[in-house]
Parts: sequence; C-alpha cells; structure tokens
Amino acid sequence: MSADKLFHLRKDYDATPLLREDMPDDPFLLFKGWFKEAAEKENIEANAMTLATVGYDMVPSARVVLLKQFSNDGFVFFTNYNSKKGRQIEENPNVSLLFFWSISLRQIRIEGTVKKITAEESDEYFYSRPLESQITAALSSQSSPLPDMEEFEQKIMSTLFQTMENASDAVLRPEHWGGYIVEPHSFEFWQGGSNRFHDRFKYIATGGGWDIQRLYP
Ligand SMILES: Cc1cc2nc3c(=O)[nH]c(=O)nc-3n(C[C@H](O)[C@H](O)[C@H](O)COP(=O)(O)O)c2cc1C
Repeated sequence: MSADKLFHLRKDYDATPLLREDMPDDPFLLFKGWFKEAAEKENIEANAMTLATVGYDMVPSARVVLLKQFSNDGFVFFTNYNSKKGRQIEENPNVSLLFFWSISLRQIRIEGTVKKITAEESDEYFYSRPLESQITAALSSQSSPLPDMEEFEQKIMSTLFQTMENASDAVLRPEHWGGYIVEPHSFEFWQGGSNRFHDRFKYIATGGGWDIQRLYP
C-alpha cells in the first residue's frame, strides 16, 4: 500500500492568545474554567480524556476514560482494577492525562500519580449507574480475551432479568471495580494560535504552590 500523505490537512488556529497575567496561581481553577467552556462548546464528551500508563515493561499504553469528578485533590475516573491499565498502575503509579477540545483549540496535559479512591466513594458512583451498567461492570473481565460474546451477552441479560424479578438492586460492586484519583504534579495548558504561535503554559508543583512557565510552542 502506498503512503497516504496527509500534508494538505492544515488548519490555522485563531483563538484569543493566552497572556501570562491571565494565568491564575491555581491550575485547578484554570482547568475548571476551561472545562466549563468545553462542556458548553464541544460536540463530543468534554470529559473524555486520554489516560497513559506504563508498567514494568516500559511500553506505554493509552486509552480514553471518562472524568467523573474533579477537585483540588485530583481527577477521578472509574474502571476495572484488573484491566491492563489497572495492572500497569499497580506496577507504576505515574500516569498522564490528556484532554483535547478541538472546537476550543485547547489541550490540557496533566502528569501525576494515581491511587485508588475509597470503597465508599466507589460505591457511591457504582450504585448511581443504571442497573445494566452495574451488571456489565461486575461481569466483565475487562482487557482479557473474550472467547464467546454471545455467552457473555446472555449472562448479562439473565442476571438483569433475575435482578429485576427479585425486585432487588442486589448487584454488588465487585472489589475489582472502582475509582482512581490522579493527583497532578504538573499541568500544561495549550491554546492553538495563528501561524503556529501556540501558547503553552506549564504549572509545576513546588510543594505548597505552583511555578508557572511559558514554553516555546
Ligand atoms: C469515549 C470513551 C469513554 C470511555 N470511558 C471509559 C471509562 O470511563 N472507564 C473504562 O474503564 N473504560 C472506558 N473506555 C474504554 C477504554 O478506552 C478501554 O478500552 C478500556 O478501559 C480497556 O483499557 P485497558 O485494556 O488499557 O485497561 C472508554 C472509551 C471511550 C472511547
């Protein structure tokens, strides 16, 4: 197959430039503002973020997960603790998060360490999900080979009917499903600008505060 050259795909960005004096001391505050704008403007899920992990084998792996909560403590997502990402996190808690909002012409890069949230916090989200999602989460061996999709679907449906017949909401959150919180030690805010004059500001935790630097585009 000959190379599909995409050299002509070129878009000029013309967003309002970012100025150093507009950058607040607290990167969480800036995140909150950018997230609010993205949630209003973007036509995809603004809370979809790429999570990159690296295990003992030093081979990075990235996938999209949904941000379900954020505060100055960090960024929370939910998953299967036995999945590939869960295993890599067990081996190495250093992770990276990436948000790309194409309409806003913005990217936010976050690096930090990740840990499990408490069982009570995971319960709160798990039981807020629709019953079918609870059952799928409970029955899925996420990231393992699935030899028979039909059998898996039938298992989900029969568990769903059983649970509904018993008029109970007795799906228990399995211990291997829950939340993680990413505690950032750096943020980079990127705003696309015209003629590739993009603005980049990096926040680095200093232990108590944040250092702010402008980076070359
Ligand atoms: C828009 C979108 C949202 C997703 N949200 C989640 C999520 O919140 N949690 C999750 O475990 N997987 C989510 N996934 C699936 C993951 O990208 C991935 O396929 C799955 O977690 C297995 O990854 P792993 O094998 O690297 O552990 C989402 C995928 C997409 C495209």
